[in-house]
Amino acid sequence: MPVTESKYLSPVWRDGLFKDRVVFVTGGAGTICSMQTRALVRLGANACIVGRSEDKTVEAAKDIATARPGARVIGIGGCDVRQMESLQAAADRCARELGGIDFVIAGAAGNFVVPLEAMSSNAFKSVMDIDALGTFHTVKATLPHLLLSPTPRIIYISATFHYTGMPMQAHVSAAKAAVDSIAASVALEYGPRGVTSNVIAPGAIEETEGAARLLSSEVTKEYAATIPSGRLGTVRDVADATVFLFSEAGAYINGQVIPVDGGAWRRQAGS
Ligand code: HXC
Repeated sequence: MPVTESKYLSPVWRDGLFKDRVVFVTGGAGTICSMQTRALVRLGANACIVGRSEDKTVEAAKDIATARPGARVIGIGGCDVRQMESLQAAADRCARELGGIDFVIAGAAGNFVVPLEAMSSNAFKSVMDIDALGTFHTVKATLPHLLLSPTPRIIYISATFHYTGMPMQAHVSAAKAAVDSIAASVALEYGPRGVTSNVIAPGAIEETEGAARLLSSEVTKEYAATIPSGRLGTVRDVADATVFLFSEAGAYINGQVIPVDGGAWRRQAGS
């Protein structure tokens, strides 16, 4: 069936591109990661998404499975990336039930907007634990399976805040810097064994929880006009970048951070 224009995929990709590939996704019920997963499933992959909420995760898995007749999508709730054991059990179950793990999206993240003086130690630590420790756990839990794959690829979902710093986001900025750093180390350490390890750093993506928290509806239009590409990002922008990086066309890209932000962070840095 031809790949047609959709909310989550450009019509440039080939049907069956990811046939027999399996993707393991943390934070897979969130807007961005669920659409990335949907795109991969539409192009032939099977998927396992994990999250803390049982209902949300199972529901999202069912929805993603509608992207392609015959798709197998497992939703594992009750899985907190801060707990190595539950993540390991989920990764092992994914490999057992779907036949392996070829691609990983480390997407689980925590975020709230708070001035530093009102941020408790535990608030800072919670975001560091979800984003940084959770990313480490995700790599550690999936690596034994990835290393058996002919195309082992990891994408981490980061941000652009830490390039410049960001008010009310000291915790997230620190955590995402750690995520970028883990990705680079994995590229160096496991590149020789065929793994590619890259970061997608989305800017403000419309219709996401993150953008809604950070941008009030009044400032959204004003902010969009300052972005060099002249608009907010879409989930499709992120999904297309994901498909590219996981496809054969992305095989030689390793240890990189790819901002998908319409050039926004450069404008921020330059202003
Ligand atoms: C100040 C806050 C707070 C807030 C929580 N805390 N929310 N402090 N302002 N709005 C503090 C709590 O008081 C507590 O500290 C500590 O953080 C931990 O809170 P808990 O609720 O106990 O933690 P937990 O249940 O583990 O929840 C983690 C969480 C929560 C990060 C706090 O928000 C969460 O589950 N988030 C996951 C979903 C999410 O955030 N998605 C958005 C991702 S968007 P004390 O001291 O009281 O114990 C994203 C994109 C960003 O990342 C980029 C956008 C462009």
